[in-house]
Amino acid sequence: MNKEMKIIESGIFESFEGDIISDQVKKTCKLYESAKGFYESIDESLSDDTIMYEVTGIDADKQEEGYLNWAISLLHPLTVNGECNMTRGHFHNDLNCEEYYWCAKGEGLLMLMNEEGECWCEKMHPGTLHHINGHHGHRLINTGDEDLKVICVWNANAGHDYERIEKHPFPYRVYKDGNKITVKSR
Ligand SMILES: [Fe+2]
Repeated sequence: MNKEMKIIESGIFESFEGDIISDQVKKTCKLYESAKGFYESIDESLSDDTIMYEVTGIDADKQEEGYLNWAISLLHPLTVNGECNMTRGHFHNDLNCEEYYWCAKGEGLLMLMNEEGECWCEKMHPGTLHHINGHHGHRLINTGDEDLKVICVWNANAGHDYERIEKHPFPYRVYKDGNKITVKSR
């Protein structure tokens, strides 16, 4: 007896130029008001409601081991007194949970830091894929003149440990003046 095979649409669509289309999408915007502490100094030319970056994604049904989250981080090409726009940065609460970042658009740096405080960066440009060790802190930095769009996939039980970065900050800051990128120790 032949039983007809079911072929359906997935219900989620992501174009590399656009957003994720799905009824499960959640979006958060990071405003300058709550990002001021990331930077060396306050930039009076930026209003508090400036959108620094947006995270659009699909959370797994359960934030438990075995489940995966998917998101796009979109960092706008802004500087804060010359310092490149960046994410807050975090370690995972569960250091066994690794992550992939995939650059879809723009130019940037993925700043990484191990548990001993050694810090380095990987260059990001369209197509670069970044495998993040679960024991490494990570932060995205937009060094380009357009949005930096990064696709992120991680274990749903990873969690975000922001406090660890606040107590032991990344030891370098990245600045941009025209096309020139400079790195300074904190
Ligand atoms: Fe992460």
